[in-house]
Amino acid sequence: MIIEPRMRGFICLTSHPKGCEQNVKNQIEYIKSKGPIEGAKKVLVIGASTGFGLASRITSAFGSNAATIGVFFEKPPVEGKTASPGWYNSAAFENEAHKAGLYAKSINGDAFSNEVKQQTIDLIKADLGQIDLVIYSLASPVRLHPVTGVLHRSVLKPIGSTFTNKTVDFHTGNVTEVSIEPCTEEEIANTIAVMGGEDWSMWMDALKKENLLASGATTVAYSYIGPSLTEAVYRKGTIGRAKDDLEATAFAITDSLKDLGGKAYVSVNKALVTQASSAIPVIPLYISLLYKIMKAEGLHEGCIEQIQRLFQDRLYTGKPIPTDEKGRIRIDDWEMREDVQEKVAKLWLEATTETLPAIGDLAGYRNDFLNLFGFEFEGVDYKADTNEVVGIESIA
Ligand code: NAI
Ligand code: NA
Repeated sequence: MIIEPRMRGFICLTSHPKGCEQNVKNQIEYIKSKGPIEGAKKVLVIGASTGFGLASRITSAFGSNAATIGVFFEKPPVEGKTASPGWYNSAAFENEAHKAGLYAKSINGDAFSNEVKQQTIDLIKADLGQIDLVIYSLASPVRLHPVTGVLHRSVLKPIGSTFTNKTVDFHTGNVTEVSIEPCTEEEIANTIAVMGGEDWSMWMDALKKENLLASGATTVAYSYIGPSLTEAVYRKGTIGRAKDDLEATAFAITDSLKDLGGKAYVSVNKALVTQASSAIPVIPLYISLLYKIMKAEGLHEGCIEQIQRLFQDRLYTGKPIPTDEKGRIRIDDWEMREDVQEKVAKLWLEATTETLPAIGDLAGYRNDFLNLFGFEFEGVDYKADTNEVVGIESIA
């Protein structure tokens, strides 16, 4: 089978096992090139198969020789249909970790469920004893609540009034105006239920109750702020309410970990092309302008560079972890630099279908998007027949 990208809207229906493997190998090489990090040795990553979570797992394993357990929700390959990219990424990660003599096991299932939490607890008990770092990196449009049985759906909408601004269809390069109607109160509550902090605290409570957190255990979840340009639809919209809730939850978790000397943090990360962010209106146009500026200034980072810097320059320096006035770690510092934001704001006004190819990094956006699915990597023979089904032996 020759696998090519097949697009439908904001998603790609196919993914390339060899390309996903190359993506993981590139990230591993990057981490090795930056030298060791005095980090955690037993790490649980929830949302470990793509984006920031995958980068966190790779950084832990190949930066600090950590044993890792990864939890994610991915589709295995079936006859005539490729797996989802996170499945191939995780297979490749496990292969590389095992080759390097590192413990790595994965659990593929719904992290919001009691069952997957229990499976994870059993695996930690059997294999690792206690965990010293929990990374919480889920991005999901839905959550089946484990107590109420309600299926919550998140929405990406402004609150209070209609938001109108430019957006780009990054496949065609068409810049148009988009209007998004404000949400209802119920939609705010649903978005908080999916992307807020409740599930994170459920995980931490469950782990603590079973005595699976080492003394001084740390947990980190990821958040985003971004510029005023995207504020109405992001930080001051429904998803922003969920992020407010996530950030508040960090304090509650820290309280609950006091007797262990443990701590919960939120790290505010940079805007990047991931499956999650491609689906948010306005954000792809912002990202394509941001990339252009940050690349020109030599400030551009992908997920792996962000997480490497988070671990090396923030979490594991041997000194207190620097945070902003709201207690958040800021690794979006380069994105939010005043000079960078001023330039992006100026380009924003100029952006049209005609100007964008020159003033924005649409090509970089598309390339990163295809990379998410294992396409467009150097060193991969995309013309070759890809019959093999890569297995993840230890997936429970
Ligand atoms: P992603 O889509 O690349 O990764 C999501 C992960 O969650 C995958 O491993 C997926 O398998 C897993 N997942 C989703 N639903 C699941 C479920 N029910 N059970 C188990 N696993 C499940 O997303 P990305 O972008 O890495 O996002 C991770 C976090 O980083 C999110 O909180 C996001 O808001 C945040 N963030 C993202 C930014 C961006 O620009 N992409 C910027 C700053 C923060
Ligand atoms: Na992730």
